[in-house]
Amino acid sequence: MIELKHLSRVFGEQKAVDDLNLTVNTGEICALIGTSGCGKSTTLKMINRLIEPSSGTVLIDGEDIREQRPEQLRRRIGYAIQGVGLFPHRTVYENIATVPRLLGWSEQKIDDRVRELLELLKMEFDTFAHRKPNRLSGGEQQRIGVARALAAKPDLMLMDEPFGALDPLTRERLQLELKQIQRLLGITLIIVTHDIEEAIRLADRIAVMDGGKLLQQATPEELLRNPREGFVSNLVGGEERALRLLSLRTIADLMEKPENFDLGDQTPSIEASATLRDALARQIWQQSPVLRVTSENGDTCGAISMERLLSIGQRPQEPGTEA
Ligand SMILES: Nc1ncnc2c1ncn2[C@@H]1O[C@H](COP(=O)(O)OP(=O)(O)OP(=O)(O)O)[C@@H](O)[C@H]1O
Ligand SMILES: [Mg+2]
Repeated sequence: MIELKHLSRVFGEQKAVDDLNLTVNTGEICALIGTSGCGKSTTLKMINRLIEPSSGTVLIDGEDIREQRPEQLRRRIGYAIQGVGLFPHRTVYENIATVPRLLGWSEQKIDDRVRELLELLKMEFDTFAHRKPNRLSGGEQQRIGVARALAAKPDLMLMDEPFGALDPLTRERLQLELKQIQRLLGITLIIVTHDIEEAIRLADRIAVMDGGKLLQQATPEELLRNPREGFVSNLVGGEERALRLLSLRTIADLMEKPENFDLGDQTPSIEASATLRDALARQIWQQSPVLRVTSENGDTCGAISMERLLSIGQRPQEPGTEA
């Protein structure tokens, strides 16, 4: 568990981070979101001691990080910096191997790890391992940045806008891959973004910052249902909130028994793993207020009606999700 307590950092006259309190649970993804200059990167860098706080403390599993040597701390924490920050003169292989080498891993262990990570990120070893960063596309470079941060199997990862310069499609794919990897490896992840869609898609909890202060910390659902007046409420959007809420849930969550409906051969179908937002889009597109829901093997496992989708606006919030 990571706890930031009354954390502040001033640069000259300016309070870059101002009395920030934030808790991130082990194994969770926390998205730190806010406008440019609100103190996101500074907050992240105080967690791995690239920047020392002016006041306040950071605890990792109850231990004050000032008790640990900065180098040692940084080797335990994966860090993907804003921009890409690959070493330009090192190959992809050597970039990924950076921290394992510092830790004195054997060549065999390093080789296994580099291969494993490239495979995880869907990059062919023979094609990419020996290239220099300038022969990679922007998206490939960002993936290698992620691989390098993951290399020494950290249990905590800090990522500062890792998908900054990517087109929306590649971005969405990498977000999903990152989430799968994070779940698979059980890593705690703090990710900085200024994109609310990215935060909603990825995070278990979202922390909204403005002017160096934390305005609200909540699950995506809670943030969409009950945003604080002002900055947070503007950030999560007016009319779009409803669609964003629908995109948080899969059809499997809300579908009903197929027998409750008169499903015919003509009833359009959709997979249970699709989102409620996909269901609504399909209903509108196919002009069918009810859809047959199918499992992965194509069998009918439920039905989803437009009426049911509309009810989501009235569903009470889940317990334990308050800010
Ligand atoms: N080393 C520094 N010296 C002086 N001021 C700094 C320093 N680092 C950051 N700042 C200031 O502190 C504030 C917060 O900066 P920070 O980099 O944390 O913002 P950010 O939220 O990450 O913004 P962005 O989204 O643009 O990356 C900014 O106003 C910035 O100018
Ligand atoms: Mg920044």
